[in-house]
Amino acid sequence: MQKTVRDYIRTIVDFPQEGILFRDVTTLFADARGFRMAIDQLLHPWAGSRIDKVVGLEARGFILGGAVAHQLSVGFVPVRKKGKLPGRTIAQGYRLEYGEAVVEIHEDALTPGERVLVVDDLLATGGTCAAGIGLVERLGASVVGCAFVVDLPDLGGRARIEGMGHAVHALCA
Ligand code: PRP
Ligand code: ADE
Repeated sequence: MQKTVRDYIRTIVDFPQEGILFRDVTTLFADARGFRMAIDQLLHPWAGSRIDKVVGLEARGFILGGAVAHQLSVGFVPVRKKGKLPGRTIAQGYRLEYGEAVVEIHEDALTPGERVLVVDDLLATGGTCAAGIGLVERLGASVVGCAFVVDLPDLGGRARIEGMGHAVHALCA
């Protein structure tokens, strides 16, 4: 039978700390067929929609977002953990399934009115994505939607992002 995107993802128990079932997408990225399938499927709901930029969330969102941007022939903008971007930035704090963090975006990376697709590997509590959306909107751009390979619905991320009025597309749970 034809493999699905889910079949290429493995689960590592107790990483990075006890009690976490870590969805490891490196096995998806390493497989040519799986990776292409994931990129094609991430874009599916937005066929025919105007997208001006892809925003990828560190770190695995860079790998996916870069490929998605290439496929769309649009630019890619990274949302990075604090202290990594060299230019002038704006910052937003957020809570994770396991810890806290601050993310940043270059203040000149987006132009007011641009339409952005946010891409990451996984949606858990939605904290990372909500922070990314916040940064995009503070620069005057709008979020067309958010695309993930994995959604962990029990952690509430989808409800949170949809509650903010944004479309969530995920390839598997
Ligand atoms: C993971 C994942 C998402 C985020 C999802 O990244 O890649 O970005 O957590 O969790 P949330 O929905 O609860 O915010 P992580 O913070 O582990 O960073 P990394 O990709 O840089 O390792
Ligand atoms: N980020 C937050 N929760 C995660 C999980 N369970 N697997 C992989 N990345 C994550």
